[in-house]
Amino acid sequence: MSLRTFILGIAATFGIAWLAVVVVPFFKMRDLAPATFDEAADGQTGVFIAKRAGRVAGGAEVYAENGCYLCHTQVVRPTYAGNDLFRPDWGGNAADETRGDTRRETTPYDYEGEAFAQVGVMRLGPDLSNLAVRVPTYVAEGQTPEDWLYKHLYNPRSIPALWDSTCPSHPFLFSKRTSYGPPSDGALDVETRDGYEVVPGPDAKALVSYLLSLKKDQAVPASLNFAPKKTEGEN
Ligand code: HEC
Repeated sequence: MSLRTFILGIAATFGIAWLAVVVVPFFKMRDLAPATFDEAADGQTGVFIAKRAGRVAGGAEVYAENGCYLCHTQVVRPTYAGNDLFRPDWGGNAADETRGDTRRETTPYDYEGEAFAQVGVMRLGPDLSNLAVRVPTYVAEGQTPEDWLYKHLYNPRSIPALWDSTCPSHPFLFSKRTSYGPPSDGALDVETRDGYEVVPGPDAKALVSYLLSLKKDQAVPASLNFAPKKTEGEN
């Protein structure tokens, strides 16, 4: 291979990636006009406004402060940049009991109302765009989604199935205090020294509230939903 072919090859490889993940998204997203539903295609009319619930703003700050975005993305990639929808429950819920398949790609509108779009830097851990859809499927008997997330946040390896998790522990978001008799409300089910208990602090509560707001399965106008048409039986 000549040097010229080699250089051209490198330029094409990185150039195409740069076009797909930087240039195209920039032009698609830099000037968002309100998206409207179309009566014929969507069966409803009006402007699309992304829904949010929970203590989103404070929790998003805790998420940013702790660098969660370094390992976790929040973008279900559009097909032109590499499809993500084949992964179970990253793009929504493949088998929602009442609504069927709610999976879709992320749209720029999904970040509306957030001070920063936490798209993420790398994907060392799973994409969290639809974390709140998945957590209820992880919980043990008698456990709430909040309990599961507090445990994961305090120390992911305290969950038996995740003994080899490489997600960092965040014990500083919790306080360890003397326990007087039975555990207090909200005390974590984790091992501590005798006579102590672990309870979530305000930052842990805001972060968990934010994590449980990460659900992007709301219907979007057909004009925004670039997801390929799914056929019967496909998962
Ligand atoms: C060094 C990289 C790294 C950082 C930083 C990181 N994580 Fe993780 N995270 C991972 C990996 C790897 C996994 C997969 C293993 C597991 O489930 O524990 C994971 C899993 C998770 C899961 C379970 C997701 C699922 O669907 O199974 C949650 C929730 C989570 N991380 C939240 C966070 C939060 C919140 C922060 C910031 C406070 C954070 N992570 C910071 C690497 C990281």
